[in-house]
Amino acid sequence: MTLVVAHRGAAAVAPENTMEAYRRAVEMGADAIELDVHLTSDGKLAVIHDETLERTTDLTGSLASMTLKQIRAADAGFRFAAPDGTFPFRGKGFKVPTLEEVLKWLPDGIGLVVEVKARAATAPTIEALRGSPVREAGAVTVISFEEVTIEEARALDPEIQTGYLLVPSQPIEPALIYAVEHGHGAVHPYEGDLGLDPGPILSVASAYGRLLGCYVVNDPERMQQLAAYGLWGFVTDAPDVGRQALGPKPSQPTLS
Ligand code: G3P
Ligand code: CA
Repeated sequence: MTLVVAHRGAAAVAPENTMEAYRRAVEMGADAIELDVHLTSDGKLAVIHDETLERTTDLTGSLASMTLKQIRAADAGFRFAAPDGTFPFRGKGFKVPTLEEVLKWLPDGIGLVVEVKARAATAPTIEALRGSPVREAGAVTVISFEEVTIEEARALDPEIQTGYLLVPSQPIEPALIYAVEHGHGAVHPYEGDLGLDPGPILSVASAYGRLLGCYVVNDPERMQQLAAYGLWGFVTDAPDVGRQALGPKPSQPTLS
């Protein structure tokens, strides 16, 4: 079964990497949520994509040089613009989540893809995941563009699933060989690098015994094509489109 993974939550309809985006993703039928983790100056795990606040919030500053309290003062709904040009999430109290907050909320049956953006966040991330229901259910994957990060994750928790993210145009087969050598279960290339016909590279991944995911797919026909070839999962800004393209889940998760 190909997984519909909500990219930063349901980022097409709600501010990315907010609890609102995650809740909507679950309501839309996502199988899993993808999020990004940084380390704050006081050692907390902030869930946000960029290493600075300005693109997505009303404040500026570097995550690594700010305390969680300073970061939580930001309005994480400030920058999201609706198609009509309004800013419907401004001033609604949305904050940059912590990984602990997400783990506490995450409904049973929903997977989690944790992208470690800052290497310093690796060990705290593994510690936060340790003992969590999603970790115990084998439904969490730690991914990174940096080899050293996922290697550290595996060293700290050899049972945790890890995935190697590839930048656009990065060759996939050498990455599969690297993944075999280092015990990473999956490789996640840029979607366009799978080619118009994804069959050949998915066969290669299967021969190496690795799962293949990809980012970011919002086109329903492409979703169906990738699923037909047995892709592990795709990251999408529109989990509702993904769910409709792939069909209903066997059962709906309970929303907390
Ligand atoms: O799932 C991979 C994808 O999230 C990587 O790209 O820039 O959205 O973190 P980015
Ligand atoms: Ca990401």
